[in-house]
Amino acid sequence: MNKFTKSILVLIFLSVLYLTGCSDSTTNPNNPSTRSLYTRLGGVNAIDTVVAVFINNVAMDNRINFFFAAVLADTTGVRYRLLRQNLVQQICMVTGGPCLYLGKDMRTAHQGMNITINHFNALVEDLVAALNSLGVPQQEKNELLAILGPLCRDIVDNGNGTGCP
Ligand code: HEM
Repeated sequence: MNKFTKSILVLIFLSVLYLTGCSDSTTNPNNPSTRSLYTRLGGVNAIDTVVAVFINNVAMDNRINFFFAAVLADTTGVRYRLLRQNLVQQICMVTGGPCLYLGKDMRTAHQGMNITINHFNALVEDLVAALNSLGVPQQEKNELLAILGPLCRDIVDNGNGTGCP
């Protein structure tokens, strides 16, 4: 086989790979495995809906809603809107979206609240319930929880992370 035939064969091989979807996955925007979690969740509006349902679940959860009494006292107030906006921007940012989270770091935000691992788990349950009720697929749910889970160590027991995995 001469050099020219070899080059043609390599070219054909690469074209077949490309056409069958095996092209460089980092440059193919239609490849689901390369779409950011943010995009797969449905973008900022979908995240806002998740956060709204999540806060609603927390508000009805007697295990933890007392932490949020001041925020939930007025769901049209600045404090409620700020928390909701901070949560949306944080989730948007950590999932690869075009947002900038400008709130406090997790250790500072939860310092002095004496949040236990049970409180933390209750809040995660409320988030999972929100994701389930909105039909977020298992893969995306797992990915989001894998990102948020490690925050346990900064949030629980005033940053001591007692009981966190
Ligand atoms: C992965 C878990 C959590 C995330 C991602 C998260 C995220 C946040 C964010 C972004 C803020 C706003 C920070 C700011 O104002 O700059 C915040 C505040 C707060 N968080 Fe968390 N949090 C988590 C877990 C918890 C838990 C387990 C509790 C209690 C059960 C809790 C209670 C609060 C309270 C009471 C505030 C202050 C709300 C206010 O008064 O404005 N958080 N959290």
